[in-house]
Amino acid sequence: MLAVAVITVSLFSLGWILLGSNDIPVKADPATLAKGKALYDDICATCHGMNGNGDGVLAANLQTKPRNFTTGAFKFRSTLSGQLPTDEDLSITIKSGTHSTAMTTFETFSPEQIWALVQYIKTFSPRFSDSNEYPLKTISYGNEIPFTRESIAKGRKVYVEMQCNKCHGDAGEGNGPSADSMVDNWDDPIQPSDLTNPSALKFATSPAEIFRTFATGLDGTPMPSYREAMSDSEMWNLGNYIYSLQTHQGYYEPIKAEEIK
Ligand code: HEC
Ligand code: HEC
Repeated sequence: MLAVAVITVSLFSLGWILLGSNDIPVKADPATLAKGKALYDDICATCHGMNGNGDGVLAANLQTKPRNFTTGAFKFRSTLSGQLPTDEDLSITIKSGTHSTAMTTFETFSPEQIWALVQYIKTFSPRFSDSNEYPLKTISYGNEIPFTRESIAKGRKVYVEMQCNKCHGDAGEGNGPSADSMVDNWDDPIQPSDLTNPSALKFATSPAEIFRTFATGLDGTPMPSYREAMSDSEMWNLGNYIYSLQTHQGYYEPIKAEEIK
């Protein structure tokens, strides 16, 4: 039997944010889990299902399906491809929601309520209590490169070299040759994002968030991780290029088809 660290009620009073650990599976005390379950059953289960498998009563009518929590695959993470999210990643999702989907913001929840929800949704996947999954490694960002014309031009080259256009299209509009008939790990249809439409974006709305998205990849979807494939400066230049597309502060016109050979 693998040892798990038990967080006690007295530790809890030190502040919930300190308790999210990348090193060990954290097991919450029964009172916290009961509190999390009560909130979850009340508010989250209509979409995510009583057992966390994404089949709540509202799920059938939603285009982007509620996450099935049982596989432990999450899109929004600070961790390497294939790894579990940190407790803080999950709490950010619950607080901020996922823009442009039915996953709304829950900003009015107290830190204790969010902590309890995070611990409760982790019980749906056995991966969270498997010590082989830990330590979680968070991605590195290197030195940020400012949003300039020069950086955007370099980023555009990276976009073509990395073949982002195969899915996202030459102009970033989500209509590349591979875009049709894609499904996610749960067999639900999925489209590469239109990177030029800010209101369609889920997470990636600043150069750093864009960097994070293609560094970590969006687990459970065809969107790959590129952290191993690019240097820090290529990552930042590409982030600036994508940001120029979505903010239309482009110093550049979108890529023309004939430039991509
Ligand atoms: C009205 C429906 C709805 C409700 C209610 C709802 N969610 Fe979601 N949730 C979604 C959808 C849809 C997604 C998938 C978004 C995506 O894949 O882009 C999602 C995704 C998530 C994710 C995963 C994000 C990722 O990184 O992959 C978490 C965590 C989550 N919800 C937690 C909660 C919690 C906790 C509650 C209750 C406080 C809740 N949700 C209530 C619809 C809902
Ligand atoms: C194999 C197809 C594929 C390739 C190649 C690909 N993507 Fe994606 N990408 C996707 C899909 C599918 C999504 C949508 C995921 C979702 O909606 O949950 C996505 C989402 C994104 C998002 C997130 C937008 C948001 O809603 O927050 C960004 C940013 C992004 N891709 C950038 C890139 C960049 C940059 C590259 C190249 C380095 C790239 N992608 C390569 C398929 C791909």
